[in-house]
Amino acid sequence: MVVAAWGVKAAAQRLSVRHNQLPGRTPKQRPRATSSSSKQPVVRFIHRPDRDYKPNNPKWLVEAASWKPDDIPQELLLECPALTAFKEQAAAMFTLELGSSECRQQLFALDKAFPHYLNHGSYGATFRLALEVQSWYRQLMEQEPVRFMETVAMAGLVRAVADVAGFVGASWQDVVPVVNATAAVNAVVASLQLGRGDLLLMSNATYPAVRSTLARAAAAAGAGLLELSFELEDLMDEERVLACFRGALAAGGRRLKLAVLDHVVSFPPVVLPVAQICSMCRDAGVPVLVDGAHAVGSLPDLALPSLGCTYYTSNLHKWMCTPKGAALLWVHPSRQDAVKPLVVSHGYGLGFRGEFLWQGTADITPWLAVPACLAVLQALQQQRPSVAQKHAEGKLCIATVAASTSTLPLTTH
Ligand SMILES: Cc1ncc(COP(=O)(O)O)c(C=O)c1O
Repeated sequence: MVVAAWGVKAAAQRLSVRHNQLPGRTPKQRPRATSSSSKQPVVRFIHRPDRDYKPNNPKWLVEAASWKPDDIPQELLLECPALTAFKEQAAAMFTLELGSSECRQQLFALDKAFPHYLNHGSYGATFRLALEVQSWYRQLMEQEPVRFMETVAMAGLVRAVADVAGFVGASWQDVVPVVNATAAVNAVVASLQLGRGDLLLMSNATYPAVRSTLARAAAAAGAGLLELSFELEDLMDEERVLACFRGALAAGGRRLKLAVLDHVVSFPPVVLPVAQICSMCRDAGVPVLVDGAHAVGSLPDLALPSLGCTYYTSNLHKWMCTPKGAALLWVHPSRQDAVKPLVVSHGYGLGFRGEFLWQGTADITPWLAVPACLAVLQALQQQRPSVAQKHAEGKLCIATVAASTSTLPLTTH
């Protein structure tokens, strides 16, 4: 009731300010204030918010954004007992034959009636252990929401980001969490200061949602798109891929402001020679965004910084088998000041990491389950170093079947 009354008063005050500020209107002589309801509103103009606006960043987020992975207070780093037990037993557990139905049932929660799940490329099946860890965190969240969100969740998130950064050969400072690759691509594209006549390079094999992101940004800025048209045979041949990109860079010239290329094309699922393409783009002065939506968990020995791109994103909920809603964005240090999350929230002004860590209240348990997925992948790796290869073989096999029946662009996944 008190809150409602305050709201009505505040609205009335706002209206009275507007009324008196209409151009050409002389403020009416007000009768002397007799009660608090006729008090003059106190207003403050912030004409230069870029310089003069000071956000109220919550202390817990400022702290979380400043943590180095090794500085996270130990008492906040909680580990699900199921994960602890898994780590202890991992060696024994993975004496299972990889690919066997028994192994599949241990690893995944897939319906027994639908055991041959190859399509982690659309929405990966989640590791059973990760689901268990996620639901453990969810219980903690509901037991004490404030403490969880502002302490345990932040600590777990910072730790998980550092772990995954290590997994992809990157520094923890250069990796931020996002919910999916689409959000990362949107954030990167929104950070470009596009102008009339600029060009964004994509191809007919670029993922449709990514193509649309580029199209919307270009249309809004009066910029254009340069679309590389691959034939299926081009994509199967590295030299032809490189020649196509060389031609596109020559055609776009200095107007090109960004090149977007897939690390693993979603269809057909071929691995592009990303490092060579990045090198050509660098020589041409064109920044590259690598869409590695299918890469992490599928390609072995990733070392993102060595690829030579400016931006890299990968879903973790495809081939790393995390719960849905976990993806990473890696940004070269030279561009981190410019790249902002799409959602402005409590981290405003805290820099690259602080701004991405919190984008409004959300369920970040998919990210908190990332260490569990890393533990499973590590155990699989020990069992069979080429497990990632096996994933890739599965994808190539699908590609070969599909390639014999279709032409590009084929499907969205
Ligand atoms: C190459 C590629 N990029 C981006 C995406 C988008 O992923 P998400 O929907 O998780 O953002 C996909 C999804 O299949 C994809 O295959």
